[in-house]
Amino acid sequence: MSTDAIVLLKNDHKEILRTFRDFESAGENATKRKGQLVEKMIELLTVHTYIENEVMYPRVRELLPDLEDDVLESYEEHHVADVLVMELVGMKPDAERFDAKTMVLIENVRHHIEEEEEEWFPQVREGLGRKTLQEIGAEMEKARRKAPRKPSQPSALKKTVDAVVS
Ligand SMILES: [Fe+2]
Ligand SMILES: [Fe+2]
Repeated sequence: MSTDAIVLLKNDHKEILRTFRDFESAGENATKRKGQLVEKMIELLTVHTYIENEVMYPRVRELLPDLEDDVLESYEEHHVADVLVMELVGMKPDAERFDAKTMVLIENVRHHIEEEEEEWFPQVREGLGRKTLQEIGAEMEKARRKAPRKPSQPSALKKTVDAVVS
């Protein structure tokens, strides 16, 4: 299996986007199913955000300083998603604002994924080349094994706190 960092991240994106589409087509009254889908999307987002924050973004920042502004913007976009996720975790699927908040999360993350895939990844691929991307990918898969799966777990929470206070 390829460990190309961009291929791995795109696979994650595909899975995340699938939960978004499923949520959108679940229908007005599918409260229980929507609750499950949000749980799933939060788990996928928590792991994905972790491996990007811990491995992909710092490596790219270090190796391609020209892309630093994009990395900083991405950290901020992750932070906005984290805040929404933290709020959703404390909300029951039948709450009045549950669907609205989920839709705002979906819109934000979709925009972020589009920017990564259409603007950022091509520049990263060109700048880093195959071998480095494979090394970063292998490092990400290692990080994935110890990644938090729920935002309430300390390492994910710490990220959110860091982002708020720093
Ligand atoms: Fe990202
Ligand atoms: Fe991503």
